[in-house]
Amino acid sequence: LLSTALEKIKGVQRIEELEQYKVKFLGKKGELTGILRGMGSLAPEERPIIGQIANEVKEQIQRAIEEKTAILEEKLIEDKLQRETIDISLPGLKREVGALHPLTIVRREIEQIFMSMGYEIVEGPEIETDYYNFEALNLPPNHPARDMQDTFYITDNILLRTHTSPVQARTMEKRADAIPLKIISPGRVFRKDDDATHSPMFHQVEGLVIDKNITLGDLKGTLLLFAKEMFGEKQKVRLRPSYFPFTEPSAEVDISCFLCEGKGCSLCSQTGWIEILGAGMVHPNVLRAGGYNPDEVQGFAFGMGVERITMLKYGISDIRELFNGDLRVVKQFARG
Ligand code: PHE
Repeated sequence: LLSTALEKIKGVQRIEELEQYKVKFLGKKGELTGILRGMGSLAPEERPIIGQIANEVKEQIQRAIEEKTAILEEKLIEDKLQRETIDISLPGLKREVGALHPLTIVRREIEQIFMSMGYEIVEGPEIETDYYNFEALNLPPNHPARDMQDTFYITDNILLRTHTSPVQARTMEKRADAIPLKIISPGRVFRKDDDATHSPMFHQVEGLVIDKNITLGDLKGTLLLFAKEMFGEKQKVRLRPSYFPFTEPSAEVDISCFLCEGKGCSLCSQTGWIEILGAGMVHPNVLRAGGYNPDEVQGFAFGMGVERITMLKYGISDIRELFNGDLRVVKQFARG
């Protein structure tokens, strides 16, 4: 038994096989155990001698198995190391360096321009109440102009803000009729809209100025200055009469299209003008809701789309390019 066992163990190649032999020779139903069990039938004087031999055999087999196990384990580790050697001559993976998103670049530029004119930056929540998004802005329930904004409602009273104008209402309320008030408010807004020029999430920068003797001329002058800083000295702006419930009079503001130089192109209309924002003189009801006295102060407000300005500035014709997460898009705008 001993010699066959040792022979077999020597020949084993895999650890799992060793386990089987352990059971076969030493296990409860194994061969050696069988012999030990049979000892009852031996003469009493023979028992210790046979017993001793059996124990020695057992120990030898055990030792053989242990030694072989150690050898095989070592071999396993060696094989593994062999397989896993790293080929240091392979070219490495390049780590991609990011860049500021064009929307971030343009938003910061807008902020810089208005900060240089003494505006303060304030922010408001993206999840808004019906009151600030509509009612405080002179849009009572059932007002038809609510249809202009394709609102995502969360509950009857809570919604994703459709514009940054609620920050006007919030700031007036907080400042409690202090003048002058000069703020811009950049941020995300949401509308049920999705095509080449509309995204369900986009960015606006709101502007609000309240002081004594503010006129439409101040609004136009401010926007002209902004357009020149943003798009170049040659820029002109024009105000087209329009309607917003929170401003009176209201205007849509166009800049002269520098891309196609007045001839019309995919981005600008045939007239050579392109709309960049909505604006107007703050409606007396909005001033009142914000705690200001419309007989004493006036204000102007505007709201511009950051995507729109970015697309114009960089000649991007599909808004989805700005949201596809493709590093190749972003990298074109990397600076030095
Ligand atoms: N809130 C308007 C919009 O999102 C833009 C606007 C802002 C118009 C302020 C007038 C004054 O379309």
